[in-house]
Amino acid sequence: MEYKRYLITAALPYANGPLHIGHLAGCYLPADIYVRYLRSRDRDVKFICGSDEHGVPITIRAIRENTTSQNVVDLFHSTLKKSFENIDISFDIFSRTTSEIHRKTSQDFFLRLYEKNVFEEKETEQFYDVEKSIYLADRYIIGVCPFCQYDNAYGDQCEKCGNTLSPEQLINPKSALTNSTPIKKKTKHWFFPLNKFESWLRDWILVDKKDKWKINVYNQCKSWLDQGLQPRSITRDSDWGVPVPLEDAIGKVLYVWFEAPIGYISATKELTDNWEKYWKQKDTKLIHFVGKDNIVFHCIIFPAMLKSYGNFILPDNIPANEFLNIEGKKVSTSRNWAVWVDDFIQDFKDSEDVLRFILCSNSPETKDFDFTWKDFQDRNNNELVATFGNFIHRTLILTQKFCNGKVPVFSEDTLSSEDRVIMEEIVNTKKIVESNIELFKFKNALFDIIELSRKGNKFLQDVSPWILAKSINEENNNRVIIDNCLHICLQAIANIAYYINPFLPRTANKLSFLIGTQTTNFQWDYCGKFNLLSSGTLLPTPEILFRKIEDEEIEFQIQKLKGETHVK
Ligand code: 2FM
Ligand code: ZN
Repeated sequence: MEYKRYLITAALPYANGPLHIGHLAGCYLPADIYVRYLRSRDRDVKFICGSDEHGVPITIRAIRENTTSQNVVDLFHSTLKKSFENIDISFDIFSRTTSEIHRKTSQDFFLRLYEKNVFEEKETEQFYDVEKSIYLADRYIIGVCPFCQYDNAYGDQCEKCGNTLSPEQLINPKSALTNSTPIKKKTKHWFFPLNKFESWLRDWILVDKKDKWKINVYNQCKSWLDQGLQPRSITRDSDWGVPVPLEDAIGKVLYVWFEAPIGYISATKELTDNWEKYWKQKDTKLIHFVGKDNIVFHCIIFPAMLKSYGNFILPDNIPANEFLNIEGKKVSTSRNWAVWVDDFIQDFKDSEDVLRFILCSNSPETKDFDFTWKDFQDRNNNELVATFGNFIHRTLILTQKFCNGKVPVFSEDTLSSEDRVIMEEIVNTKKIVESNIELFKFKNALFDIIELSRKGNKFLQDVSPWILAKSINEENNNRVIIDNCLHICLQAIANIAYYINPFLPRTANKLSFLIGTQTTNFQWDYCGKFNLLSSGTLLPTPEILFRKIEDEEIEFQIQKLKGETHVK
């Protein structure tokens, strides 16, 4: 199928805390790399996100801080939006689920399914906190996980083993608000009959998507499907959320996991009048970037909702990442174990791309990954500074020294075999990077680019223009060899600017300036070629791209992580 447009979504983050690096590595950075790549290929693409402002994570924070849910979401919606901008995540829209357009869109969605008689209406007994007069669904209730025995599992999910739970499955359940033992009380809710979609989902996922989806995603879906699907309640007793649009539903709201994914649709509506083209035409490729705790919602529940509504397209892929842990422990906003994006940007000036580099290199694409400050330092110092930055800086300095700061001439008829080998590498890297990005293997794609700079360094070392320069005369060919060598290295840098642009956009711009092209339009079609620079172009004074990170800076960050200074 030839796709005419792309709709790329990144999981709507709960507006209950600031942005941390686990969020970025989980889905926002990979999504942004992919979108920047698509844009550089001139694809029609919309990149959708927004804050998820309903649900228990919000109300719990409001209760704990003795404030209103509205205050919590107002604060963190703007904090998140700003942080995403700071780290160059280039959404086309960052909307919010408390918007009017979202209320209407999700209520209309509910009503259409209601009118089609999709839902089952059931009165059930639910846990209830007598002291607070509140039904305890989802994260309002905690207890021991029946799968891994973790003693702080939520009523909807165990954060330790990742299993989805219902409050009834918890051993020794307690109210998360008062720690009291709850009673059972009757209440009426609307259920989405996921069981009726089981056989369609089995075909769609286990057959159609088998060889296409990432193995971690496929396996999680298979294990869910193999356990058998049950009807799921899609309403809650709460005063915070999108009200259920029925007369006999006072005090009931739509379950956050029913309405939040509809937020992708509302945000697209807010962005463009053409929203239906993106959501309803089969030649749109829809891709959801999410973290592993969101897999079932995006692979099973939301597709079933879209199918049940009719005339919506379904996701082509859901390239979910696993978790990024920090110094051996799971990231947690509530337990204050995190590296906050804005703190990083403040502590390491001009290092936005360093963070993007580190997180992409440590991307938990196939399994959980442990971020450590020591590894951060090593990767920065060895790969960004000593390999990537060094190749670029050496080339620029040698050009100043031996070519009067101008792109030297290129004599194609006197190329050595080493020249030809590196030239081929420069061109071939394009295809390799391209295919890795298209397979969502962003880490490999980034390493391919760093590898090219490593080869460039070796090429410089093998030719050693600084030695040849000592004896340039009529009897030898040294002038031509030096010129060809530096011309090739400069063309390599010009190509690297294009290749690296989706990953490290600021670096691409700096490179473009340093090699005298000053383009900020890194069209993918233009790269992989040898005509990106013209001989004779005068280059500006070289500047260092990345700096070494010292032991004291790392020690400070480790203390900060363990200490109280970064409480959010
Ligand atoms: O896990 C989370 O942070 C959820 N707020 C993700 C929601 S994604 C989408 F469905 F909105
Ligand atoms: Zn568990």
